[in-house]
Amino acid sequence: TVIVLDFGAQYSQLIARRVRELGVYSQIVPFNTSAEEIKKIAPKGIIFSGGPASVSQEGSPRPDKEIFSLGIPVLGICYGLQVMSLVLGGHVTCPEKKEYGIANINILRESKLLKGVSDLSQVWMSHGDSVDKIPEGFVTVADTPNCPYTVVEDSKRSFYGVQFHPEVAHSLDGQKMLSNFVLDICNAKADWNMGNFINEAIESIRKEVGDGQVLCGLSGGVDSSVAAVLIHRAIGDKLVCVFVNNGMLRKNEAQNVLDLFGKHFNMRLQYADAEDAFLSALKGKTDPEDKRKTIGKLFVDTFYNEARKCGDITHLAQGTLYPDIVESKSPFGGPTSTIKSHHNVGGLPEDLKWKLLEPLKELFKDEVRELGRELGLPEELVDRHPFPGPGLGVRCIGEVTKERLDTLRDVDAIFIDEIRKAGLYHEIWQALADLLPVKSVGVQGDERTYREVCTLRAVTSQDAMTADWYHLPYDVMQRCASRICNEVKGVNRVLYDITSKPPATIEWE
Ligand code: XMP
Repeated sequence: TVIVLDFGAQYSQLIARRVRELGVYSQIVPFNTSAEEIKKIAPKGIIFSGGPASVSQEGSPRPDKEIFSLGIPVLGICYGLQVMSLVLGGHVTCPEKKEYGIANINILRESKLLKGVSDLSQVWMSHGDSVDKIPEGFVTVADTPNCPYTVVEDSKRSFYGVQFHPEVAHSLDGQKMLSNFVLDICNAKADWNMGNFINEAIESIRKEVGDGQVLCGLSGGVDSSVAAVLIHRAIGDKLVCVFVNNGMLRKNEAQNVLDLFGKHFNMRLQYADAEDAFLSALKGKTDPEDKRKTIGKLFVDTFYNEARKCGDITHLAQGTLYPDIVESKSPFGGPTSTIKSHHNVGGLPEDLKWKLLEPLKELFKDEVRELGRELGLPEELVDRHPFPGPGLGVRCIGEVTKERLDTLRDVDAIFIDEIRKAGLYHEIWQALADLLPVKSVGVQGDERTYREVCTLRAVTSQDAMTADWYHLPYDVMQRCASRICNEVKGVNRVLYDITSKPPATIEWE
């Protein structure tokens, strides 16, 4: 194990996941975990994550100083480097010039950490504070024009620090550096894989559930399907899946999901037709958070209703992934702000009757896909684009009505169909259509029309934390536009969204 000491960074899970990619199990623990507890875990190495705080702020997170006496190698990243420097007797300053974006490191001396990394290698910087005095025993390994201590080390004690973020894809040799740290410096064995994850998850689900019964909201998307199958492996018929038709599903979706699960899996599955309840609760609502919270609450009400049919439920299972959590709340109630209330996290009531079971909450989407394959889920399911819990409700911008949903379902079906026909479905992370809350004037068959406007959006991404808009070929765009205007009654204008994340998010609401 290599542990990630989490100082509240958006990237902590990404670090853990990069370590897992190296075949080494990685676990995240809060920044204030004591040296005593860490000793019990007996990790081969410790990585201090970045974080949003400034070490000069009062109450900013500090690690237990005794960690440095455990004889375990430490790698500090960004805030992690700064806090390590400070605790070991260095100094950190807040210069006027901040540094965000790409830089090239100037390598000054050989280091185990940079083995195989070329001079001027590109790294991703994102920091306000900088170390301006390194602790005794440390030397500078690399710098950049803006940052004198970009890579530092005390190789005797095996303490390393980098000011940039090796875990993000923009740091081109970042994974090489993490590999140098984890496999060479820490000497961790690369013997972890998804098979181990399944065994460990099964054991911990059994322990957590005990004699209880679990209700799992199944949407037919990748996450909840994988969660359901994993939990089913662990506890069999103590799992009840509930598929809620909230009226905001894609075209033919309810039938497809029921058929698929009927065909492949032998689970207890209840179908709840709650379309009317959802649509009447959303009547007149246009604010995105209001809509999300309303939908979240109705899901829970529906689950409560369904639970009455199947005896004592103790746990509610959800396919929550790591990016859902990080964007819905900050891990320490700290400065990371709520971006959206994802329905499977933020919309739950404080006084939920059941305990939550979220076996995928440390994983990223592509890890969940790998897990799904390992569990034997069919490729058509594992490879589906992500679809948000609140469904087309957050894609009908403005008021959600049955009529607008039907229109959007048709638009979405045409868009996805054209992408599949062009052979692009798997190249694209996610493709979605939204209806905008405006109408536009058009002319069709010599007649004036005044109809809805839709936008199409396709993005590429690794984990939904960041995304680039996809350069959809013009001929595909054109086929989509002409089919949508011809075949969907209520639409006379089609736009294509060319914004990346950030600054936009993937969904519009
Ligand atoms: P955003 O729009 O925040 O979306 O960039 C990131 C990814 O998460 C999906 N998404 C959701 N998934 N419940 C979910 O299960 C939700 O409430 C939710 N909102 C967004 C979104 O489709 C994208 O893949």
